[in-house]
Amino acid sequence: MFWAGIEKLENIKVLVVDDEDEVRNAMVEFLSQEGYDVYYAKNGIEGLKKVLEIEPDVVLIDYLMPGMDGISLCKAIKNNSETVDIGVILITGVDDLEVRIKGLEAGADDFLNKPFLIPELKARIRSLSKIKKYRDFLKTYQETLEAEVEKKTSDLLKAHLKLQKAYEEIKELSLEIIYRLAKAAEYKDKYTGFHIQRISTYCVKIAESLGLSKDQIDLLKYSSPLHDIGKLGIPEKILTKPGTLNKFEREIIKKHTLIGAKILEGSKIKYLKVAEKIALFHHEKWDGSGYPYGLKGTKIPLFARITAIADVFDALTTDRPYRKALSISEALEIIKNLSRTHFDPELVKVFLKIKNQIVEIKNTFKDEDLKSEKSFLEFFP
Ligand SMILES: [Fe+2]
Repeated sequence: MFWAGIEKLENIKVLVVDDEDEVRNAMVEFLSQEGYDVYYAKNGIEGLKKVLEIEPDVVLIDYLMPGMDGISLCKAIKNNSETVDIGVILITGVDDLEVRIKGLEAGADDFLNKPFLIPELKARIRSLSKIKKYRDFLKTYQETLEAEVEKKTSDLLKAHLKLQKAYEEIKELSLEIIYRLAKAAEYKDKYTGFHIQRISTYCVKIAESLGLSKDQIDLLKYSSPLHDIGKLGIPEKILTKPGTLNKFEREIIKKHTLIGAKILEGSKIKYLKVAEKIALFHHEKWDGSGYPYGLKGTKIPLFARITAIADVFDALTTDRPYRKALSISEALEIIKNLSRTHFDPELVKVFLKIKNQIVEIKNTFKDEDLKSEKSFLEFFP
């Protein structure tokens, strides 16, 4: 489209800078008749002022002018990033080679020798104005392109933020469901208090000490609270029986592992998938004497082995229907003695190493503080 404008000489601005009135007026008159939008200046300083004001497409500059000469004006135009694309035609004397070299160095785009022929002037202006319009077009095109890219980038960023928000909401929803499921199981077993909060936090500390990745720690943190979800399927009178359980009752209790896995099986939520394994295997023992399958050593999933230590430690250090809580040192001694039989020996080492952190967690989640129970968001920050 802009080519059509050039052919018709529409909107092509030409500035004539010449101190000789006769020559300048003749050029102005001729170019106006040709259809150009013509401006003029009588010297270099005025010429530069008009260049900045008018932003012409082509400037015809007489080399010989008092004050600022043609070369200086040409340099001023070409050294300014705003005006560098303006086509500059330097008008010089015949065969003035030295001036031509200076003009080229100053950035002049073309030359005309005085006296010049009208067809030559027309041809040079036409050629330079086309180049100028083409450069303008490219500049506008680039700016449009950049604006487009910026807009697309901003749209993408907005879409990304929306997705992230949706992801956060889904995660929060998943975690709240997990928390409430775990709470539901806890209500069956009213002596467990902050049990699930402590278990989750003990597990996190063990996992951190093992150097597991943040994602893995996150998984364990949010799935371990569901380890006893299967208790929902165990009669309350057995769960809360104050005396020792008989063989039959013990067998019923053991079923909470299978029931838990059944409740959680088939989920597509990553936390529930991991929780299914933990629920199923958290009563397996390192020497193979655990339940429900008697798995041995590393055949027992790592997260279940970690949860097992946290679970037993917590059971030992809290009041139960059949006994009072043991002290932390007594409980740690028992854990130590159960290394290689009940527990993974490496995990026992880690657990004993982080004793101070374990004590801290125990003090943070005291069952006596049940009245000021923490919200799920405080528990799952
Ligand atoms: Fe259990």
